[in-house]
Amino acid sequence: MKYLVTGASGQLGSEWLRYFRENQIPFTGYNSAQFDITDKYSAEQIIDEDKPDVVINCAAYTKVDQAESEPDKAFLVNETGVKNLAEACSKRGINLIHYSTDYVFSGAKKDRERYPDGYPEDAPSDPINIYGKSKRAGEIVLENSSANWLLIRVSWLCGASGSNFVKTMLMLSEARDRIDVVSDQTGSPSFTFDVVEKTIQLMQKELTGIFHVSSRGEISWADFAREIFELSGKTTDVQNISSSEFPVAAKRPSFSLLSNQKIISAGLKPADRREALKRLLQQIKLS
Ligand SMILES: NC(=O)c1ccc[n+]([C@@H]2O[C@H](COP(=O)([O-])OP(=O)(O)OC[C@H]3O[C@@H](n4cnc5c(N)ncnc54)[C@H](OP(=O)(O)O)[C@@H]3O)[C@@H](O)[C@H]2O)c1
Repeated sequence: MKYLVTGASGQLGSEWLRYFRENQIPFTGYNSAQFDITDKYSAEQIIDEDKPDVVINCAAYTKVDQAESEPDKAFLVNETGVKNLAEACSKRGINLIHYSTDYVFSGAKKDRERYPDGYPEDAPSDPINIYGKSKRAGEIVLENSSANWLLIRVSWLCGASGSNFVKTMLMLSEARDRIDVVSDQTGSPSFTFDVVEKTIQLMQKELTGIFHVSSRGEISWADFAREIFELSGKTTDVQNISSSEFPVAAKRPSFSLLSNQKIISAGLKPADRREALKRLLQQIKLS
């Protein structure tokens, strides 16, 4: 099996490259300058040169707030880029792995009541920001494609490379004794190493379609910050604030927990959040 990774310098792309190197699995990995998924012809050319069995698309427009003022860019990468890959993979019989987000859901109160254990994969999506809409558009491209695809939705993604909530909290704690964090948005973090391991397991089982991969249990950003400080031995105090006290350009769902039930039914074990966080903190310390 040979793999091709797009968006290889991002959080998840870097984790894939680490996994392939550690396990001595053949792959090629490209950053956005080397392989622009919005450029259909150069994408096809690289795929034809590399001849992978599987394309892992970690490329995405992920600037949630900036997307509100540049929707065209967000849709170009998250919809047109996915279409280019789906068409290229479909024509050549290559499997396509793609990632999406909890932000395809609205987090409406009725949804929380209907799905107390998290949104299942087939719950109706209703994104409330441009980023979520562009990612949903990419999902629809796959759903309508004849490619052999596996789509994994992740939430609150964090890993040792790139920037994310865990690294931001650790950095802020160096300068401050107290940090204000929103407590009225709940969900659950996905850890990049777990996403890679689960993707491999789903591929080994030859499963296709949509799967949710996040850690077990629901938590707010504020409580997650407390857990980060507790497990990293910091004394930083976390003050609960509401989303309205932390104005940002894009609306966020107040509830975006992803159900783990489908991966459990597929025989996979969802990550324990505290254990995964300990592993991530150790990785960050060593990096
Ligand atoms: N981060 C999260 O909290 C989160 C949550 C839920 C879901 N997700 C999803 O998980 C996946 C991985 O996210 P991530 O956190 O690893 O994202 P990331 O760190 O922002 O990485 C995305 C990568 O895509 C590259 N890219 C952007 N436009 C491209 C293009 N036109 N062609 C090729 N590459 C391009 C970026 O390169 P440049 O930096 O050079 O632009 C970047 O290296 C994405 O599908 C994302 O939507 C992420």
